Amino acid sequence: MRIFSGIQPTGQLHIGNYLGATQNWTELQNNHDSFFMIADLHALTALQDPKEFSKTTLSKFIELLSVGLNPEKCAIFVQSHIKEHTELAWIFNTLTPLGELERMTQFKDKSAKNVKNINAGLLTYPVLQAADILLYKTQGVPVGKDQIQHIELARNIAKKFNSMYGKIFPEPEALLVKEGAKIMSLTEPARKMSKSDSPESSIGVFEEAGSIQKKIRSAVTDTGKEIKYDAKKKPGISNLLTIYSLFSDESLAQAEKRFKGKEYSVFKKSLVDLLIKKLAPLRKKKEELDSRELYVKEILHQGEERARSIAKATMEEVREKIGLLRL
Ligand code: TRP
Repeated sequence: MRIFSGIQPTGQLHIGNYLGATQNWTELQNNHDSFFMIADLHALTALQDPKEFSKTTLSKFIELLSVGLNPEKCAIFVQSHIKEHTELAWIFNTLTPLGELERMTQFKDKSAKNVKNINAGLLTYPVLQAADILLYKTQGVPVGKDQIQHIELARNIAKKFNSMYGKIFPEPEALLVKEGAKIMSLTEPARKMSKSDSPESSIGVFEEAGSIQKKIRSAVTDTGKEIKYDAKKKPGISNLLTIYSLFSDESLAQAEKRFKGKEYSVFKKSLVDLLIKKLAPLRKKKEELDSRELYVKEILHQGEERARSIAKATMEEVREKIGLLRL
């Protein structure tokens, strides 16, 4: 089964992204024909600093390798390196009803937040995403819940193209990660951990030990003393327990038992130790790769070549089906 997913280059990976997305990718790569893309063109729908942008993109690639994506098992590449993405997106634009784009939750949210920069790219964002997915004739798309609407659009576009021009695209399905992997903010546990919130609210995958300790120490807990999972009454402790359980591979029940009768501070101390122990090797890998730019670029090149050979072939078929003139 071919799978495909993408991630924007902006913002360092936090443990929420790691537990909720990239860790799942590292498992999937073992038994799927896997493609992972850094969505730099999608990131342009928000303002980017041209002096930093290429570095940001390369760092994201290094981050993905550091958390365990293995270039021998999957292709990792940068969206803007494969010109077929934007070409196919244009064609898909002509198949997509405007109303469907205007109804997208993410478009509405993003344009409400960015009143000063409601660009057309924000609206057509999911069309480019459909092109990303369909260009590789993808069957499964590992994503979080917030992307389901976008995958549905990709399915609609595939159906429409297939019925108008002849069947070439499979209808891709979202492969959702398990619900338990949703990590909340450390400061406002009612909200999802997000890279756009305050730095204290999230823990970076490559963060230093001292800073991890500080953040966990000041993470919001709840009234009472019990270390018990109860997402409604004890959202702070429940979130920390979830993090503990996912990093330790212990069930929530086992973790509760381990800390039964203990103080919050004791639990937090163990969580800090666990995080530091689990994240240190990733940090080390990243440091090593940061110093090997040539090698890193070389593997990025290989991913690009793999992606391009498929993208080119699909685009040839698309042009032929549509009836664009060939000489
Ligand atoms: N929109 C996705 C996100 O912000 C990133 C993305 C771009 C993507 N293209 C994709 C995800 C294709 C899955 C498939 O998370």
